[in-house]
Amino acid sequence: MAPRCWLWWHWLGWPRIRPPSASNSTTFGGSDEVRNPINAKALRKMRRKVQGRVKLCKMHLLTDSSEKNPQICVVGSGPAGFYTAQHLLKHHTQAHVDIYEKQLVPFGLVRFGVAPDHPEVKNVINTFTQTARSDRCAFRGNVVVGKDVTVPELQGAYHAVVLSYGAEDHQSLEIPGEELPGVCSARAFVGWYNGLPENRELAPDLSCDTAVILGQGNVALDVARILLTPHELLEKTDITEAALGVLRQSRVKTVWIVGRRGPLQVAFTIKELREMIHLPGTRSILDPADFLGLQDRIKEVPRPRKRLMELLLQTATEKPGAGTAGQALATRAWGLRFFRSPQQVLPSPDGRQAAGIRLAVTRLEGVGEATQAVPTGDTEDLPCGLVLSSVGYKSRPIDPSVPFDSKLGIIPNVEGRVVGVPGLYCSGWVKRGPTGVITTTMTDSFLTSQMLLQDLKAGLLPSGPRPGFAAIQALLSSRGVRLVSFSDWEKLDAEEVSRGQGAGKPREKLVDPHEMLRLLGH
Ligand SMILES: Cc1cc2nc3c(=O)[nH]c(=O)nc-3n(C[C@H](O)[C@H](O)[C@H](O)COP(=O)(O)OP(=O)(O)OC[C@H]3O[C@@H](n4cnc5c(N)ncnc54)[C@H](O)[C@@H]3O)c2cc1C
Ligand SMILES: NC(=O)c1ccc[n+]([C@@H]2O[C@H](COP(=O)([O-])OP(=O)(O)OC[C@H]3O[C@@H](n4cnc5c(N)ncnc54)[C@H](OP(=O)(O)O)[C@@H]3O)[C@@H](O)[C@H]2O)c1
Repeated sequence: MAPRCWLWWHWLGWPRIRPPSASNSTTFGGSDEVRNPINAKALRKMRRKVQGRVKLCKMHLLTDSSEKNPQICVVGSGPAGFYTAQHLLKHHTQAHVDIYEKQLVPFGLVRFGVAPDHPEVKNVINTFTQTARSDRCAFRGNVVVGKDVTVPELQGAYHAVVLSYGAEDHQSLEIPGEELPGVCSARAFVGWYNGLPENRELAPDLSCDTAVILGQGNVALDVARILLTPHELLEKTDITEAALGVLRQSRVKTVWIVGRRGPLQVAFTIKELREMIHLPGTRSILDPADFLGLQDRIKEVPRPRKRLMELLLQTATEKPGAGTAGQALATRAWGLRFFRSPQQVLPSPDGRQAAGIRLAVTRLEGVGEATQAVPTGDTEDLPCGLVLSSVGYKSRPIDPSVPFDSKLGIIPNVEGRVVGVPGLYCSGWVKRGPTGVITTTMTDSFLTSQMLLQDLKAGLLPSGPRPGFAAIQALLSSRGVRLVSFSDWEKLDAEEVSRGQGAGKPREKLVDPHEMLRLLGH
């Protein structure tokens, strides 16, 4: 018997019986049963086991090499990349998935976006770690797809490629003065306090009294909360030491969170609002006039928004001093300003720094989802020393060969299949735009994986074997790229945890890629 057949024979669970001869190799029992003196009960048990395994074989011994042993590549190791990989590995027991990531470390916005004071959200890392440790999955960090390796090169090496590279840019405001010092995107600010290497030098100037955040989404609330949270509380989180140092010296007392529409259209959610309301040493500034007539209108809105509105209304109409004792002694404040659209960043007299923001007063037109803010012609100037623009993230095109809808900021796709490019898929924020929480990203990544597996089964992906990582490794090494594996990340992880221990933090993040590579001995 050839060695390969012998392996199959063992796996089928029949090692103790002499292998069948060529003439009866498809039947069990019969003459072999007579020749081997084993008892009938054991034989029946073994037969059931064999039948089960033969059934499994039938499911997985598929007709061509791509179906049998697909090599799949995922670009990006955020929630979309990991959930896509998890689903593929679970639903195809022979698939191999390589996850390419531009950073040296995995997990995308779970590490570089989610606020340091929300550690419970980061528990998804445990699930992602299980996926990465599978022997059919590999993390290939420190590889910038589109620069170190092209998408067509990946397509040549794998049966399918899934683009899950998120939204790495920020929406610009497109207003005069946006480039002045003192104006910064919330994306860069978040990256700075979360240790994103490219933002580690940001060191925002917090010597002013008032900061303005443009946009009323959850990112805006994250940023406001980090600006106003007492530093003793932040010291127990995984916020970087450099950010803590700057926040300890902060003189910011008031944070305005500005929306171009009204209370009914805010994009933040109730949990995040509640956290703002209960922030120690901080009070809220809400103008009851903004909420006039809302009591009746909220009866018609869906329940989650209704509850959010009720909390806003209650906070806006509460008598001063009715809050907690901490709020009565508050030295800091946050406020929501509605019906104000950013028009111009106002410079300081010497023109070197932002000194305020001119806002166009707006009114609403349209109903429901289509409600739009239209300028009334009036403006209002709000003095401040820091402007943080939090009007959303934005995806970039990754490679000239990949279609990209620059208006919507997504890869055009139908349920994750990239339009016009067989074998190319997308998931997460680059598939549907930069909104939605981790569970939304999970659901859409599972859907993309389902489409890929359907195509595989239908024979729509390239047949025949593909070299997978072996081919890409050769390319990357010829280009001088130093790869980081998941076990490398685990060493960095241990180092971060150990550095955090002394300070009572869950970890002290490494922020310098050169230092990380040095620690890995690269
Ligand atoms: C500030 C912030 C806070 C958030 N907080 C929460 C929260 O508390 N709870 C919650 O449920 N949701 C939260 N979200 C939403 C959540 O983070 C997203 O739903 C989710 O991260 C989107 O996943 P993704 O994989 O599409 O993108 P990402 O998480 O951005 O992952 C994309 C990955 O692709 C990599 N990549 C990019 N370009 C390349 C390239 N060229 N080559 C290789 N790799 C590349 C990136 O480095 C990154 O690792 C938050 C979002 C933000 C912005
Ligand atoms: N704790 C959490 O769960 C958490 C934390 C952070 C982020 N996230 C999620 O991550 C996603 C992204 O959050 P996000 O806050 O970046 O985006 P977002 O939820 O889309 O909010 C963007 C905000 O910017 C405003 N805006 C957009 N363009 C503008 C412009 N040109 N001028 C003025 N205002 C403008 C929007 O107002 P309009 O509505 O008028 O457009 C909206 O208030 C969201 O789904 C969010 O829930 C979740």
